Amino acid sequence: MNKQEAKKRIEKLKVEINHHRYLYHVLDKEEISEAALDSLKNELFKLEMQFPDLITPDSPTQRVAGKALEKFKKVEHKTGMISLFDAFSEKDMQDWEKRALKILIAGEIKGGYFCELKLDGLAMSLRYENGSFIQGATRGDGKVGEDVTNNLRTIESIPLKLRVPSHDEFKKIGLEKKISDSIIKAVSAGEILVRGEVIMTKKTLEKLNKKYEKENRPILKNVRNGAAGSMRQLDPSLTAERELDFYAYALASDFKFKTHEDSMKVLKLLGFRILKENKRCQNLEEVEKFHDFWEKNRKKLDFEIDGIVVKVNDLSLWPILGIVGKGPRYMMAYKFSAEQVTTKIKEVHWQVGRTGVLTPIAVMDEVSVGGVNVRHATLHNMDEIKRLGIKINDTVIIERAGDVIPKVVKVLDKMRDGLEKEIKIPKKCPICDSDVHKIPGEVAYKCTNKDCYAVNLRRLSHWSSKGAMDIEGLGPKVVEQLVKEGLVNDIADFYSLSVGDLKSLERFADKSAENLIKAINDKKELDLAKFIYGLGIHHVGEETALLLEQLVKSKKYKVESIEDFVKVFKDTTLSELESQEDLGPIMAKSIYDWFQDEKNLEILKRLQVNGVSIKTRKIKAKNSDLEGKTFVLTGTLSGLTRNDAKAKIRELGGKIASTVSKNTDFVVAGENSGSKLSKARELGVKVLSEVDFNRITN
Ligand code: IVH
Repeated sequence: MNKQEAKKRIEKLKVEINHHRYLYHVLDKEEISEAALDSLKNELFKLEMQFPDLITPDSPTQRVAGKALEKFKKVEHKTGMISLFDAFSEKDMQDWEKRALKILIAGEIKGGYFCELKLDGLAMSLRYENGSFIQGATRGDGKVGEDVTNNLRTIESIPLKLRVPSHDEFKKIGLEKKISDSIIKAVSAGEILVRGEVIMTKKTLEKLNKKYEKENRPILKNVRNGAAGSMRQLDPSLTAERELDFYAYALASDFKFKTHEDSMKVLKLLGFRILKENKRCQNLEEVEKFHDFWEKNRKKLDFEIDGIVVKVNDLSLWPILGIVGKGPRYMMAYKFSAEQVTTKIKEVHWQVGRTGVLTPIAVMDEVSVGGVNVRHATLHNMDEIKRLGIKINDTVIIERAGDVIPKVVKVLDKMRDGLEKEIKIPKKCPICDSDVHKIPGEVAYKCTNKDCYAVNLRRLSHWSSKGAMDIEGLGPKVVEQLVKEGLVNDIADFYSLSVGDLKSLERFADKSAENLIKAINDKKELDLAKFIYGLGIHHVGEETALLLEQLVKSKKYKVESIEDFVKVFKDTTLSELESQEDLGPIMAKSIYDWFQDEKNLEILKRLQVNGVSIKTRKIKAKNSDLEGKTFVLTGTLSGLTRNDAKAKIRELGGKIASTVSKNTDFVVAGENSGSKLSKARELGVKVLSEVDFNRITN
């Protein structure tokens, strides 16, 4: 995206985000999920990082939370309640570390990171005077919050009086005497500020909702709303009914601790609940493991978390790293991948099913949703497209719940910039060019050619087969599964699959999905002859593919990309093809026609866009005795596969034929050779054993 485009997109994002923030924070309403809103904010943040001079002070990335509610007394925070920056991927975390290391002029973050679970509740600031709980406030806009002291008093896990730890206890956690003395002093005659999260457990939410349902009262949407709503009650007895919890995550008073970990241990001694899951990690690799573990195991916890918070453990680094905008540079919220995110639809493919029904599939900018990276979402049918008002180039919310292919749930139409295109049902089948008809009385459209599906499957399997691309793990069964799910329609689609697309499918586990994508990507640089063979042009077998390779190579200009390759065939006339040795008129016509078909050229174009390139094979060894000689292979070779033997012959400039004739120079006879061997003897063609063959080819 260039700066001009980024500027336009940033403006759109700001308007959209502000609209939803107002709905959510001021009117207590929501049109889109918080996860989707987060996704928009993340896009804005990233664009602003790319073009920092486009950041304006009124950008949603530059401020903290919403406005204080009118009904509570206002409290000015002594030290501002800042927020956190969000990371959504390992790469985001690495970038964060790089930025920090640059400021610190260091090669590593000494002391590592302290990782905590990111509780999904409501941030609170608690003030203790002479050891007694005096006041508690919400974050509000970070400077001014709401005084919810009375509501907080109903929460059992908030100590109303701080514990006075013994010197022994301080000693056990390795705290210097000077520091423990100053804490004890502050507890008995001084001020202590504690920050943490008020939460509602899942169990409590369930219990309350059962009760509310019986009493015909509106149910609580989720634990976060449960906690937030409870804190907003003016009558503390209503809050008490909600049975909330509090976990502390910061001791805001400065006691000169060495590490953040120390301060957490002290909070525990003072009587606060601390998450036992929190953990010190030496480096980002360990952080990644902690993040992945909790992303997978979060369901086992009795409270909701939406990520982890990663904190630089060495407190002496905090003032150096400092605070920028809405948050500190020494902490990062590393979020779990949400089940709803926003992305853009780049194009729509029409998948043709076994019964010929056409299903629209959106191809999108890759996004992480529900823990996996995906590029495809189903649009179901034309009615659904109309119902949601989806257009190509739209910014949409997609959802992936459980192990299914994601779906589009909403269009953010205010994000449109005029480049949107209507999605139209194709008149001709995208696979076979036959007519497409609407099924009377149904929403579905159908290809009228009943062989369409089967032919396409064969074509796709041919591409991945041994003689062509030879992609491991992409056999006919898997190919059919990919077609059925609408992920693959033509050969170019293989190269736009992501690991996450596959993980959403039955029978695919993390490892098998990764392996298949790797196998496909490993074969992105294609051998020219195999590439030609793989295209499945009628009458073009392996030998003809080699002939065509020679033809391509004989051209004056270099053929290095698919585009160059197409140019060769567009420039080659039918009569030129017909005049090629060993190309009969039927073959020539079939090849010529294939390259005249726009649909085929479109697929070739997309192969190139998806990163596929062609390589011309090694120049054959000069002065090879086998140059121009014709070989026929028969029987089973014990030391090498037939394909290897063929490759060897071709490398040395030889040709391979399938039948023995008087033009054959050598017949290579393995075990159990049959009629071809007898024919060779009959015609007096030289017969080579496997040993002979190895001798002359090595
Ligand atoms: S540290 C500088 N630690 O996440 C702000 N925050 O997205 C200090 N949160 O406002 C926050 N768990 O409400 C911190 N272990 C944790 C947390 C946590 C949840 C919340 C907190 C904060 C929000 C930022």
